[in-house]
Amino acid sequence: MRRVLIKCGGSVIDSLTPEFFSSLQKLISQNYQLIFVHGGGPDINEMLNLYHVKPEFHNGLRKTTEQTMKVVEMVLSGHTNRKLVHLLEVHGLNAFGLNGSDGKCLQAKYINKEQLGLVGEIEAVNQEVILMLLRENIITVITPIGISKTGEKLNVNADHAAAAVARELNCHYCLFVTDVDGIYIDGNLVSNVSEEDIHTYITEGKITGGMIPKVKSALAAIEKGLERVMIVSGKKAFFDGRNWMGTKIQGKAGILQ
Ligand SMILES: Nc1ncnc2c1ncn2[C@@H]1O[C@H](COP(=O)(O)OP(=O)(O)OP(=O)(O)O)[C@@H](O)[C@H]1O
Ligand SMILES: [Mg+2]
Repeated sequence: MRRVLIKCGGSVIDSLTPEFFSSLQKLISQNYQLIFVHGGGPDINEMLNLYHVKPEFHNGLRKTTEQTMKVVEMVLSGHTNRKLVHLLEVHGLNAFGLNGSDGKCLQAKYINKEQLGLVGEIEAVNQEVILMLLRENIITVITPIGISKTGEKLNVNADHAAAAVARELNCHYCLFVTDVDGIYIDGNLVSNVSEEDIHTYITEGKITGGMIPKVKSALAAIEKGLERVMIVSGKKAFFDGRNWMGTKIQGKAGILQ
């Protein structure tokens, strides 16, 4: 069995198209097992706004106070996860939502408590529940909230969580589904980028904001030997059964993977 980890951006959940879902169906018909991790930036910002809390980011990572964490969990788990599970079900796919801290699925540690607060990075993944659901042909939809060794819930950037789950579950592909067709440089969509390109583009300010944790996570996934890592749009088809649409991340310049 071959596995695909799909990170679905909060930016695009409300705009996923039938063509996107038919790409998923094509993967399933080719015997791929799917696992989802979702983001939820816009939903969180909307709710924080209601609570008059100003979003604050460091290198694309959300600074998370205890108050922010309550909102993050309520929104991601109670709203965004439910929305994506429902959409998959409506499109004929069996899906099951899982908060990352449930069953110690996403085990995380603080990145920098002073600077970022309750923000974690994944140390290990308890695969038990995910594998149990996969055996029954059920897609797990994971909310990126981790649990620390001391039992605190930590906000994990969804792109980082996706790369970690892809690695731990020995996925073959990792797709970052977002609200743009891929990486744009000087107004043009690029179909392949190397690690060197990515570092240059970040330094030159051509890759910014939420695209930074995405490309860094993509590189981390490539390093672990994933066969295909791509940034694709959720607003159109990303796979027609043979060809892929979007930006493919390559490990080293010139080496096609
Ligand atoms: N070079 C680039 N090419 C394409 N998009 C870029 C680039 N640099 C920055 N971006 C921004 O990155 C955004 C995608 O990241 P963003 O974090 O907003 O969405 P997401 O990760 O899909 O959603 P969420 O963070 O809610 O899970 C794009 O909408 C675009 O504004
Ligand atoms: Mg993002």
